[in-house]
Amino acid sequence: MVEWSIIFDQWIPKEQTLREALCTLGNGYVATRGAFEEAKAEADINYPGTYIAGGYNRLTSEVARKQIENEDLVNWPNWLPVSFRHAGEDWFHLSKVELLDFRQELDMKHGLLLRSVHFRDGKGRESMLNTRRLVSMANAHLAVLEWELTPINWSGEIELRAALDGRVINSGVARYHALASQHLQNLEQGQHNEETMYLVVQTVQSKIRMAQVARTQVFLDGQTSGMIPLTKIEQGYVEHQYTLQALAGQPLRLEKSVLIYTSRDWATSEPLLDACINIGRQGMFEESLEEHKRAWQRLWNRCDLDTACLSKTQSVLRLHIFHLLQTVSGHTVDLDVGVPARGWHGEAYRGHIFWDELFIFPFLNMHLPAITRELLMYRYRRLNEARSAAKEAGYRGAMFPWQSGSNGREESQVIHLNPKSGRWLPDNTYLQRHISSAIAYNVWHYYQATEDMDFLSYHGAELMLDIAQFWSTIATLNHEMGRYEILHVVGPDEYHTEYPDSSEVGLNNNAYTNVLAVWVITKALELKEIVDDSRFVELLTKLHIGPDDLSRWEDITKRMYVPFLEDTKIIAQFDGYDQLLEFGWEKYRARYGETMRLDRILESEGDNVNRYKASKQADVLMLFYLFSSEELLSVFKQLNYDFEPECIPENIAYYEQRTSHGSTLSKIVHAWVLARSDRKRSWVNFETALMSDLEDIQGGTTAEGIHLGAMAGTVDLVQRAYTGLEIRDDVLWLNPVLPDEMPCLNIQLRYRGHWIKLNLTTEKMVITFDKGWSKEVKIGVRGEIHNFRTGDQKEFDIQR
Ligand code: BGC
Repeated sequence: MVEWSIIFDQWIPKEQTLREALCTLGNGYVATRGAFEEAKAEADINYPGTYIAGGYNRLTSEVARKQIENEDLVNWPNWLPVSFRHAGEDWFHLSKVELLDFRQELDMKHGLLLRSVHFRDGKGRESMLNTRRLVSMANAHLAVLEWELTPINWSGEIELRAALDGRVINSGVARYHALASQHLQNLEQGQHNEETMYLVVQTVQSKIRMAQVARTQVFLDGQTSGMIPLTKIEQGYVEHQYTLQALAGQPLRLEKSVLIYTSRDWATSEPLLDACINIGRQGMFEESLEEHKRAWQRLWNRCDLDTACLSKTQSVLRLHIFHLLQTVSGHTVDLDVGVPARGWHGEAYRGHIFWDELFIFPFLNMHLPAITRELLMYRYRRLNEARSAAKEAGYRGAMFPWQSGSNGREESQVIHLNPKSGRWLPDNTYLQRHISSAIAYNVWHYYQATEDMDFLSYHGAELMLDIAQFWSTIATLNHEMGRYEILHVVGPDEYHTEYPDSSEVGLNNNAYTNVLAVWVITKALELKEIVDDSRFVELLTKLHIGPDDLSRWEDITKRMYVPFLEDTKIIAQFDGYDQLLEFGWEKYRARYGETMRLDRILESEGDNVNRYKASKQADVLMLFYLFSSEELLSVFKQLNYDFEPECIPENIAYYEQRTSHGSTLSKIVHAWVLARSDRKRSWVNFETALMSDLEDIQGGTTAEGIHLGAMAGTVDLVQRAYTGLEIRDDVLWLNPVLPDEMPCLNIQLRYRGHWIKLNLTTEKMVITFDKGWSKEVKIGVRGEIHNFRTGDQKEFDIQR
């Protein structure tokens, strides 16, 4: 890796699908995996996938004698294909030639994927192939590639082809192979004019239509060839064909500009019509590249983070910001989509939206808050579905689905395959009701970062109140104990979904769920002081929340139950956790390494992870991740529990020994909670989280899609944990403690409409304030509040 690029200088077929995910190019509207232009989907070798934000479709499959409907992120037609062959010979394939040199580069600064291959074929002919590709950040619909072949020691006739291929299915995840996969129906294909061909497809159930239009042009030795291609048309496939005389030493270049429009777009008449009109307005590769680079520059100006002294960390953090911005960008606004846990980079988790937003929004809030707002609107627009879900389950308010897709119904799968045992098993992780709290938390923190009162009044408050109402109605009063409980749920740790030997699903009183419910209700009650009185009353009336409801809310915020391990100050993950068996970690770690899917391993051995004190990921520790100790202690105090700051390290140590980090989110949380108390261990966790995708630490999962929560979470660790950033009482508090391994940091943050620059070393922090629009901003450093106005710059001594 170099500062702005990942470079692969060898072709390693077994790493190809991982690299395709890492080299995905996207713009928040469409994303295409970094597959080679000549590659077709081949199991475990190549998987060219193109996905559009919100491009879902449902299919029913028969599995284990059950009819199962799944909603998938659809793999759309492949716009990449370009290849060549010598007259009458086989088409070019990397495995059929001798590689003399290979280089693939993901240039993150400019959003470009480059490849350069020097090869020799079986007849001794040597050639250079250079390709450049972009998915435009300037024009959401545009993707362009340049393909250049230079014969080195030969001349002769070659055939060149460039195609749009709609004969694709969803087959990017081996675990889903038994499921139905034909999401697309081919509608039309043909030639628009001499240089332009098109393809129109539609999803079979959601009826989303996509038109792709491609213009190809060939240049010989830098000059336009004026050649007109032959167009081959088959069902679901169009191809431009050129027959050329290649000359030794003379580069032969093809430019392919592609426009993608769908029936989900704004400001269009009809996808094919708009694509055809606009392709005629498109400039050449270099022109598209310039616009694209400028758009990326604008994004980097707002989002880059410079750790100056640490090159590898720096580059990986940039890779993470890069993929985040390729998944959600300005082009996402108005698309009515959420942020998918695995990016639009592959088919894992079917492009669904989970609680991973919790790890992603803090970065967006402090750089591009307009995107967070849009992603929260995705939730707002699905309130009715969440209300119906609550009602059907016997509650009031809004119960959001654990996995969300097109219309906000629950998209979690009913059964899932354990690839280790080959068995299909019930999946009860949908009981993660804590997802609703994550949404309320995100609303609150978006508001804190932006002071966007309009959003809060008209949308955010409604979400928070309806979620609070859900918690109030799912909570039941245990008269014996005199406290409220939440029963039959699952916490963030997905290994525990039921009690061993129980016929019921779910667990009682997951501490994380209960504390978050109290926090949500408390904040919902505080809204009364924030939004206009009339609006608050309006909302209560709209949501049928009456005085009795509000007094129950108040009561819950004082009497919710939180389980503790007997005679300790250790928060129990859930009721009955102490009855579980200790797990033989050493034996399994020696065999499978530290990060492992214990649930799959144990099930394949005929055992059940529910029996053990073994978590997939941070659960109780999420509390210390989401809340400052002051905030958390005040919740415990309000609940009349004696929980002091000294109890926190004990809790961390307890769960650290009992966590398998089977989710990439887990290491983020562990790095965060240790950031102040044990900086060495924190850094080790941070480094592991940093390598989640680049080194594919979960063993094969990145190829199916990146882990966006871990990506954004690592950047946010630097941005908030190391700077000690917290917004409290209308003050932006900073209390920086940089890790020894990161002795300097330069970052720019958006806060309530202002840009603030932080330049940090271990000794000093310089804060530079750009524009103070309407009023000054309060920034607190180490306990003292300072007012900042336009142009102010202040320096602080921050030595420990
Ligand atoms: C984790 C969840 C996460 C999901 C999507 C699962 O493996 O356990 O917490 O939301 O992946 O990233």
